[in-house]
Amino acid sequence: MSVLPPLRLGVNIDHVATVRNARGGKLPDPLRAAAIAAAAGADGITAHLREDRRHIIDTDIEGLIRELKIPLNFEMAATPEMVGIALKHRPHAACIVPEKREERTTEGGLDAAGQHNHLKPMITRLRDAGIRVSLFIEADPRQLDAAVALGAPVVELHTGRYCELAGAAQRAELSRLQKAAALCGKLGLECHAGHGLSYADVGPVAAIPEVRELNIGHFLVGEAIFVGLDQAIREMRRVMDQARTAGPSA
Ligand code: PXP
Repeated sequence: MSVLPPLRLGVNIDHVATVRNARGGKLPDPLRAAAIAAAAGADGITAHLREDRRHIIDTDIEGLIRELKIPLNFEMAATPEMVGIALKHRPHAACIVPEKREERTTEGGLDAAGQHNHLKPMITRLRDAGIRVSLFIEADPRQLDAAVALGAPVVELHTGRYCELAGAAQRAELSRLQKAAALCGKLGLECHAGHGLSYADVGPVAAIPEVRELNIGHFLVGEAIFVGLDQAIREMRRVMDQARTAGPSA
């Protein structure tokens, strides 16, 4: 048993909007999902306004800003348009992600190290507006150093590859995440993690002491089809908390 600092759960509601957009119209309403998530114990709501508006649309962000009682983590590409929208709405947090039109989902981490001159002014403007900036990056020491140089206080480690792998390869990827999280602690970066997490693989990530927030969406929205969103989120919280109490995996 170990006592680790609390772990927040951010519920990503993008794919409620995906289902809505499959038919056009207004239902299912991502705002209703956000309210249910908050009542089920989510610490925050995450929504990614993609350049092509394939799921979340501008009016969803406006509604979340207006009605949400818990913090909004606005996921955004590093573009002037998205910086403008973030500055207009001033969400609690902005997570900068790489975005390619042809990808199905965010496939890799942001190249923070290779885009210093592009990212620095954007991060400075977001921070000056009081928005907590995070960078969605691979568990790579070079990218962590770049986050520090860019003045980002938070990084979110991409867990997509860890979730896709199995056996020894998955353990190796977990070790990379654990080492990156430990380095975050040394560098003074707040460490978050997310992408692809489910009940089956969330435990070892939840048990990493330096990880303070997980952002989870697709699995929860899928599970909600069978058990409802409230129950899916409560079960995720239970699995996370149980793993956190048990302590780090070897
Ligand atoms: N974190 C970030 C930065 C993401 O881009 C996403 C996907 O939009 C998630 C977390 C959540 O991933 P998933 O929907 O696979 O749980």
